[in-house]
Parts: sequence; structure tokens; C-alpha cells
Amino acid sequence: MTKFQPRKTFAIIAHPDAGKTTLTEKLLLFGGAIQQAGEVKAKGERRRARSDWMKVEQERGISVASSVMTFDYNGISFNLLDTPGHEDFSEDTYRVLTAVDSAVMVLDVAKGIETQTKKLFEVCRLRNIPILTFINKMDREGLDPFMLLDDIEKTLALDVSPASWPIGMGKEFVGCYDLINDQLILMNKKGGANDIIEKAKGIDDPKIDELLPSHLAVKLREDVTMIRELCPAFDLESFLNGSMTPVFFGSAVNNFGVKEVLEGLHDIAPTPRKQSTIERLVSPDENKVTGFVFKIQANMDPKHRDRIAFMRICSGHFKRGMKLLQVRTGKEIKVPTPVMFLAQDRELAEDAFAGDIIGIPNHGQLRIGDTLTEGEKIQFTGIPTFAPELLKSVRSTDPLKSKHLGNALMQIAEEGGASVFKPTIGAEWIVGAVGTLQFDVMADRIKNEFNIPVMFEPTQYYTARWVSSDDSATMKKFTDENRTCVAEDHDGEVVFLARNSWHLNKMSEDYPKLVLTKTREQTFNK
Ligand code: G4P
Repeated sequence: MTKFQPRKTFAIIAHPDAGKTTLTEKLLLFGGAIQQAGEVKAKGERRRARSDWMKVEQERGISVASSVMTFDYNGISFNLLDTPGHEDFSEDTYRVLTAVDSAVMVLDVAKGIETQTKKLFEVCRLRNIPILTFINKMDREGLDPFMLLDDIEKTLALDVSPASWPIGMGKEFVGCYDLINDQLILMNKKGGANDIIEKAKGIDDPKIDELLPSHLAVKLREDVTMIRELCPAFDLESFLNGSMTPVFFGSAVNNFGVKEVLEGLHDIAPTPRKQSTIERLVSPDENKVTGFVFKIQANMDPKHRDRIAFMRICSGHFKRGMKLLQVRTGKEIKVPTPVMFLAQDRELAEDAFAGDIIGIPNHGQLRIGDTLTEGEKIQFTGIPTFAPELLKSVRSTDPLKSKHLGNALMQIAEEGGASVFKPTIGAEWIVGAVGTLQFDVMADRIKNEFNIPVMFEPTQYYTARWVSSDDSATMKKFTDENRTCVAEDHDGEVVFLARNSWHLNKMSEDYPKLVLTKTREQTFNK
């Protein structure tokens, strides 16, 4: 990938089962990155078979690991960042969303906005990420399209502007009316990727009556008249600032409507945005390379304990072999073997530009939140760590291996796999997760990668909060007086482990100058 093409970096957000994997696959198909549907899954299965810890993923039938897929379409390089759909891994998903410039929100026509859709949307909203909406599974009976628009508008407080409108639903679904180009896009019922496109001279064109059964033609006209009265016209600026979403309808499994989403991304999704650092805004067209690590993935190959750090390039022209400054440590890191991801394959990245994601193999030097630059000491902001909602204590069932447990836990924490806390008193380790499944994945990894059998047990602690204060005397008083419930996280930050909600409230009352937070930014700006 040496030739420069504009980049568009996006993610698909969806509640599990809405059709994210299917849409991903079909986008790759249209983008020419794979030749036939089913390849993503087939390769995924082969890859999973190679990796032991991913057995958990296989057994539970969920997708835990997320990856990056790059493909070209009509002169634009798209980077699609996959996000794990299962709610237990939402923390990872949140971080992935810090690395994209736009998102496609997939809804199941029968379900509308679901819990996970809402959570993910809220993360996008925090960063004003523009969103295209794809209402999927139109080949099944579902909610009335007007109700769906209303649902999006009310639940997400987002203006909706349909780009296409469905004709029929379920067994009667025949295609869509393209409201932007005034044309009928009819589903090719014989399968295949090519829809039948019929230009119309507006919604009253008699051609529509020739092509559609009369009741569908009548309904389409009524609907379109209503949309044009009720819905705001598409406004690019409102889309780009995240306050309006264009809505497409389709059926990913039937290839229908996917091309329109891709064209939509091509035409209106933004190119790389400016990124905030503590010091200044970084513009994508600056000459020097800057970027941040938003994800670490270990054991893509369990035989080599390598980790891949996923770095989003924010500016400059990265070239293979470059030396970059790791701002947190002040050390120079040489990057001789960066990788890029094409569909599910990796290849060496010779060049990369703002918006691209490169994978940097390393042995643990790189951490989530790290900023890499050509020398400038800046720190990108906005990469969150969340207070875990579940806490357990962990011990090795083999006493001889106990002393290595800390290492294994730290390594997993640095990769963002879970939170790990070392209480000031005692030899116990506390592990925090956002969902229970994370414990299973951890136990599996610690056993397979580090050869340490572990057990998770209930703990007396109920929740964790990061602690800070502008007043060092308060900080000292707090840590001295509460030694039994003070711990450090893997970065050495002070954490308060509360025994119950009363305990948590009491601490805020007893130490008014103390700041207790549920999220911590990975900024290393100490
Ligand atoms: P996810 O990644 O969001 O979890 O969803 P995924 O794409 O895996 O899709 C979930 C299920 O919905 C799959 O069925 C998939 O085939 C089906 N699906 C996706 N798009 C459409 C569509 O447009 N119409 C219909 N009718 N179904 C759709 P499954 O039975 O769980 O898996 P599979 O055996 O078909 O792969």
C-alpha cells in the first residue's frame, strides 16, 4: 500500500445478532478484499483452532477478539475496525471507538435500538462521531419503518434522514426507493451482488407502477410523501457533527443495501479528524508521524509470546523501519515489522498514513494509551479505562506457581484484558472485570499461556474507584487511614476498594477533597 489514497476509518456498532458480522463480510466482498462470503468465518475458525485461549470464544459462540480490516473502494482506502459485540467486552470496544472517524450502526428491523446499541452509540456521541444507520433483515417481518425512525430519534436524540425507503417487508420485501437519486433499487431475487436499478423521474413516475405490485406502489408513494414532509433533508454538516444520521434499509445476508452503505461511506464519511493531545490538537496533514495505541492483542500465535499493539496513525507518513519515541518512557522504539491487516490476513506495512491502523509486534513494552511520535513530547487523550463492575480475588491452585501469578496478571492488565489490583496489605490479588466472561477468558489464558492453574473466589470488595486529590495531605491521610482497602493498579495508580455502597459514600464524606472516579484516562501524565 504505497500509493496515497484518502483514508476513511470506521467501525460497525451493533447489538449482538443484528448482523454486524454479515455486514462486515459483505462490505469486504464489495470492497474486493474477499472473493466469497463465508471467508471471514472460515478463516476465523481456522485461526481460532490454532489458539487455545480462544477456545472460550469458540465454545460460547461469541466474538471476543477484535481486528482491523483494510480494503479499497473507488479510490478510497477503508479501515474497518471490528468491535467485539458481547457486552462483557465493551471496554475493549470503547477503546476501539477512540480510533475511528465514523461508524455504521446496524439495527435489526424487528428490534430497533437495543441495550448494546445504545451504550455504543453513547460512546460515539461523546466524541461526536458521525453515524450511518443500516436497518437490517428487511427480508423478515419487523417493526414499522416509521416507528424505527421514531425510536432512533427519541432514544438517541438524533435527527434521522432516510437515504432509502423499503418497499414491502418480510416475504414481500422487494427492495428500496433511493431517496437521494430517485431510483428503484430492486433486490435480485436470484441472489448475487447486483441489484436491479431503475431510474425514476420522481415518485410519480408511472414506471414505478409497472415494476411494483399496485399495493406496494401506492404504499411507497404515501410513505415517501410523508417522509418528505416529516423528516429533515440530509445535511452534511449535521451528519459530520454527529447530530444527524442518514438511514439505509437492507438485508445484509441477501447482499441488499450493502452497496448503498458503502457508497454512503465513500461519499460522506469523514477523512481522519484532528486528534486531541494534552498539549495541542494534532492535524492529520502534519508531516511528522504521531499515533496512539488503543488495543493490545496477545497471542495471535500462542507459540510466540508476542503481542500486537494496534496503533492509530494520527499524522505523518509512517515508513517501515522508522524509530518512534514512546513518550511515556522516553525510549526510542524501532518498528521493523509493522503489520497491516487485509481482511483476516496480515502483511508487512511498508507505509501508513493518518487514519491507518498498524500492528506493532512487541514483547510488552507498548501499552494501551501510549503515544508514539517522531520526537515530540505530546500525549493523546480520550482512551478510557473503566472501573470494573465485578471484583474477584485470584489465587493459583499450585502453590509453587503463585509467585509467577503477579506477572501473568500484570501482563493481562497491561493489554486491557481486565483490571488487576494489588492491595497494600496481604498477598492477595484482586481482579476486576466488566463482565463475568472476562474471568473465564483470563483463567484460560493464565493456564495456557503461563501454565498457572488459577481459581477466582468471591472477595469482600464490592467496587473500585481511582483516587486522586490536588491536596497531597488528603491523599496521604486517606492512604494511611484506609490501608485495608487501598490498592494499586498495574500502572501504580492508587485505587480505593469499597466494601459496599455505604463504604463508598462514607469515603466521599470523610475526605471531601478526594476525587473518586469510575473511569481513568490512559494518559500516563504523572
Ligand atoms: P452479529 O455479528 O451482529 O452478532 O450478527 P451476525 O452477522 O452473526 O448475524 C446474526 C444472524 O442474523 C445470523 O444468523 C445471520 O445469518 C442473520 N442475518 C444477518 N443478516 C440478515 C438478514 O439480512 N436477514 C436475515 N433473515 N438474517 C440475517 P444465524 O442463524 O445466527 O447464523 P448463520 O448460521 O446464518 O451464520
